[in-house]
Amino acid sequence: MNLEDGIKSVLVSEEEISKKITEYGKILSEEYKDKNPLFVGILKGSFIFMSDIVRALTIPCEIDFMAASSYYNGTVSTGNVKIKMDLSTDVSGRDVVIAEDIIDTGNTLCAVKKLLMERGAKSVKIITFLDKPDRREADISADYTLFTIPNEFVVGYGLDCAEKYRNLRYVGIYSGE
Ligand code: IMP
Ligand code: MG
Repeated sequence: MNLEDGIKSVLVSEEEISKKITEYGKILSEEYKDKNPLFVGILKGSFIFMSDIVRALTIPCEIDFMAASSYYNGTVSTGNVKIKMDLSTDVSGRDVVIAEDIIDTGNTLCAVKKLLMERGAKSVKIITFLDKPDRREADISADYTLFTIPNEFVVGYGLDCAEKYRNLRYVGIYSGE
C-alpha cells in the first residue's frame, strides 16, 4: 500500500498550509503578547498543526495535550465525548488556546471548552486548522479558523482514517475505497 492510495484529490496543499500558519502565527503573537498562553492540543489529530503553529509564534508559550474524542462509528460521529487523557497543567488563571485539527459536529470542542472554563481558565479561545460548518450540532465556533472546507471526509496533516494518513503532508479528500 502507498501513502496516497485512497486519496481522491488534494483539498489544501502544503504551500497553502504553510502560508496560513505564518499568517496566524503573527496574529496570535500579537494577541497573546506578554500573556504566556497555554496551547492545548487535542490528540491525536492536532499534533502536526500544534507543532507548526507554536513554531510560527514569536512569543513564549507553554504547551500541553489532551485526548478527547467523540465516538465514531466508521466516519459518522455519534455525539458522545470522552476525555481519554487529561492535561498535566493547572489551567486556573491561564490564557488557554485550544488547538484542534477539525471542527465537525463541534461536540468534542464544546465539552473541552466547558471543562477548561470550569477549571478556572482566565480565557479559552479555539484555533482550528479546518472547519466543516455544514455538520455543526453543538453551539460553538472557533476564534481562529485556517480553512473552511465542504462536507467531505478529509485526511492528512494529522487527520486520519482508521489511524492511516496522519503523516500525509497535505489535506486530501478520502475516496472511501
Ligand atoms: P466533532 O466532535 O464532531 O467536532 O469531532 C471532531 C473530531 O472528529 C476531529 O478532531 C477529528 O478527529 C474527527 N473528524 C471529523 N471530521 C473528520 C474528517 O473529515 N477526517 C478525519 N477526522 C475527522
Ligand atoms: Mg481530533
